Amino acid sequence: MSKTKTTFFCQNCGAQSGKWIGKCPSCDEWNTYVEEVVHKESKNDRLLLFSAAKHPKNEGNKSILLQDVGLHDFPRIAVPGKELTRVLGGGIVPGSLVLFGGEPGIGKSTLMLQLALRLKNLKVLYVSGEESEQQIKMRAERIGITTANCFILQETNTQNIFKQISEISPQLVVIDSIQTLHTSYIDSSPGSVSQVRECAAEFLRFAKETNTPVFMIGHITKEGSLAGPKVLEHMVDTVLQFEGDRNHIYRLLRATKNRFGNTNEMGIYEMNGEGLREVTNPSEILITNRESATSGVAISATMEGNRPMLIETQALVSSAAYGLPQRSSTGFDLRRLSMLLAVLEKRCGFKLGAKDVFINIAGGIRVEDPGIDLALVCAILSSNEDLPIPQTTCFAAEVGLTGEIRPVNRIEQRISEAQKLGFEKIFISSFNLKGLNLKGLHIEIVAVSKMEEAFSKLFE
Ligand code: TYD
Ligand code: MG
Repeated sequence: MSKTKTTFFCQNCGAQSGKWIGKCPSCDEWNTYVEEVVHKESKNDRLLLFSAAKHPKNEGNKSILLQDVGLHDFPRIAVPGKELTRVLGGGIVPGSLVLFGGEPGIGKSTLMLQLALRLKNLKVLYVSGEESEQQIKMRAERIGITTANCFILQETNTQNIFKQISEISPQLVVIDSIQTLHTSYIDSSPGSVSQVRECAAEFLRFAKETNTPVFMIGHITKEGSLAGPKVLEHMVDTVLQFEGDRNHIYRLLRATKNRFGNTNEMGIYEMNGEGLREVTNPSEILITNRESATSGVAISATMEGNRPMLIETQALVSSAAYGLPQRSSTGFDLRRLSMLLAVLEKRCGFKLGAKDVFINIAGGIRVEDPGIDLALVCAILSSNEDLPIPQTTCFAAEVGLTGEIRPVNRIEQRISEAQKLGFEKIFISSFNLKGLNLKGLHIEIVAVSKMEEAFSKLFE
């Protein structure tokens, strides 16, 4: 008789406890502990599942000098499409486990299927626990690629999946999604913390032992974190997030963790009738072309990872009609907005305390680069005073608590992107002027060090 054990798991963070507790000591959430049955088994049966797992590693590894480690053993697998390549840090690393998260309906399955179908000279196994083969076929036809070396498997039991894997030995495995899988070694229901963790661990072992990259799709909770345990994020090599408003056509792909590359990179896609299309010139879609300048709009030259991008910020300031003034922002941190409003009030004497302030970053993009501050502040003032900012002017600077205009990184790249898109004037911090190579630039640079100075130069 095998031993049956039950443990309580926090469904939010994956912490476990021998008895039920109301408040999770690890993530402070209430009522998240659920009893799950953990069925103990002898680990040996499971290892037999990987037929390709005849790795000498089980005898223990030998230490090796760092300079003797050759990278040529692991050439990255080239991925079609510049956006995904950049976000992954230059292609897929063999043996890597990638978690791909996003809200339902955002396009995770579409992007993964597109990847599977475009890797024509690679044998790919697409495991779906959510959709039938026919549904996948219909989607593939919509995407428009039908000749590919891609196998479809509709299965949710990991042991059966590994049987299929050993039969066809794929070079890339896509799991859609990890929450639908279950392993027979554990009795709890699919999607529960222990199931998700155990299934992911099996694929982790498979990826490392056979050097096959695995992409796992994961769902996201209402709060925006990857559903189920945080432990998944620790386990995998790369965490990709697909985000964006479902009502907008643009989708952003970000790496929030990447053992093989930079996490600042972002890829932009557009969802249309034929699947996801890459957007290679984001600035052009993020700036609305207007006949004449409107008040409350300012363009910012921001950086997303290594890529400069011009983004439109919009502000609407109006008298608060119902007592308590509202502050609302889409795509920009609300706390930072409150801080900027306080700076405007205290340092520049603008009375915004009794006004409603609404902020919107065009295209449904969320911006974290502080270089957007100056544009945002100027958009707020432009709306407040009803003075339009010329359409050929843009901004790239941070605003400090004393109202000083602070320098931002990679200013040359921002300036040359602005120039490339036909802007005639850019406001930057005067601290950024040092060491700035102005050769070949014909865009006018306005260097300012105080907010008042920026306003007087802008609306003079
Ligand atoms: P899907 O990949 O199923 O999302 P997820 O796996 O993240 O839940 O994408 C679902 C949405 O994408 C669906 O609402 C329809 C839309 N879509 C298009 O607009 N065009 C297309 O070509 C495809 C395949 C989907
Ligand atoms: Mg899906």
